[in-house]
Amino acid sequence: MNRDEELRYKAYQEIEQHKDLVESDPYRQHFHVMPPVGLLNDPNGFIQWQCTYHLFFQWLPFDTTHGAKFWGHYSSTDLVNWSLEPIALAPSSWYDKNGCYSGSAINHDGQLKLFYTGNVKDEHNNRETYQCLATSEDGIEFSKQGVVIELPEGYTAHFRDPKVWEHESCWYMVIGAQTTEEKGCVVLFQSHDLENWECKGQIAGPTYGENLGYMWECPDMFVLGDKDVFLFSPQGLEADGILYNNTHQSGYMVGEMDYHHARFNGSSFVEIDRGFDFYAPQTTLDDHGRRIMFGWMSVPGEQEAYHPTINYNWIHCMTVPRELQLYNDKVYQTPVEELKQLREEPTTIANIQLSDQQYVWPSQVDWSSEVEINLNHSEEMTSFELELFDCIILSYNQNSREFSLYRNSLITEEKEFRSCHLPSGLQNMRMFIDASSIEVFVNNGEEVFSARMFPSQTNQDMVIKSEGTVNVDITTWTLKKE
Ligand code: FRU
Repeated sequence: MNRDEELRYKAYQEIEQHKDLVESDPYRQHFHVMPPVGLLNDPNGFIQWQCTYHLFFQWLPFDTTHGAKFWGHYSSTDLVNWSLEPIALAPSSWYDKNGCYSGSAINHDGQLKLFYTGNVKDEHNNRETYQCLATSEDGIEFSKQGVVIELPEGYTAHFRDPKVWEHESCWYMVIGAQTTEEKGCVVLFQSHDLENWECKGQIAGPTYGENLGYMWECPDMFVLGDKDVFLFSPQGLEADGILYNNTHQSGYMVGEMDYHHARFNGSSFVEIDRGFDFYAPQTTLDDHGRRIMFGWMSVPGEQEAYHPTINYNWIHCMTVPRELQLYNDKVYQTPVEELKQLREEPTTIANIQLSDQQYVWPSQVDWSSEVEINLNHSEEMTSFELELFDCIILSYNQNSREFSLYRNSLITEEKEFRSCHLPSGLQNMRMFIDASSIEVFVNNGEEVFSARMFPSQTNQDMVIKSEGTVNVDITTWTLKKE
């Protein structure tokens, strides 16, 4: 066996050996993409190719920590039911031996082409980075084509995560980077043949007075409505009140990509998800013209070691796929329409009148459900609160217009929270609840909170209360489990 075959063989063995244990985990999700074993992080190479959606993922089959990543691969025709495909990339070559790191996919000349970062480390932990290409005729088996871009001057080896797209018959690539002064930025490349790439320099970052941390990961650039959106994950932002409280952030700027001057002229940075667990998102444009995003439903850091799923040899999952739309220069997110396929019979209660008292939802909320709540509140409502299971509280304060999600900390079990402002108040919430996560879409996706949760699984109650008067309509659906 050569190195590539050996690594693949070991990874498949790992899946086989731990299958029963992994599947016996009560916190195993029902409708989220998860690793078959080991650790999953970033979504990679997300594309609809020849009618099928392909979602690759950063994957370490051998452990629930980070290490020399593979590209795992799922495919789907409906964004809901996913099939595990053979391993796309294994870290077997001299230029990717310490990880086939994140990247993207394109359709070109009838082939599915992957651009990714080859991560190399020597025995002193010195890093090298290479941007690499792999191609496939059938979307299943990939053949590595080697290195297409080496590290240019002016940057450290934290230079990775190529995202490629076409614009006016030319190919462009953005790469997340760190300058030699250790500032985060993003670098643009241009190509006519996908093999020879010309470095056009930084399109955003310290050159333009944008000082956002020490490294930007996983850049993405796309058109939404009549604007360009630049999405990325900066590391090293300091917490600022209710902003930037996770170890690392993900967010966007809205504006215009000036291809002639290689410059993104945009708004200031806005966090795209307000919860505890969201990082390294990636989008694609599908055949219906929808811009769809997956995020990794976690953030790198200390809390990863406290996920109870590591006792079952797996960790992490993706968010649900979300369609992006732009309203007033703000990115709104809606769970893709296809997720409605999962709904079983609804239970609806309309016109629940709350006036300074609590209301207990009469049925148990399933570990796989969707809940929709519409509020009609009078001038007197000063606060609204929803408590779910024994571990999640959603609370809204009408005076400050602050909306918060509280959960039990994975480390101390004490309550911790994340918040955002809702300038025009709280109108509705749509929640996706799975065995160990909650995603709350507030005001038709104006804000989203994603969080992993590990409830005791004995309490399935939903309790709502208000101060002042509010009228609510609630619908719940149990979502089909595979
Ligand atoms: C983001 C990231 C990327 C890198 C990958 C490695 O989570 O750090 O920058 O390519 O993960 O798994």
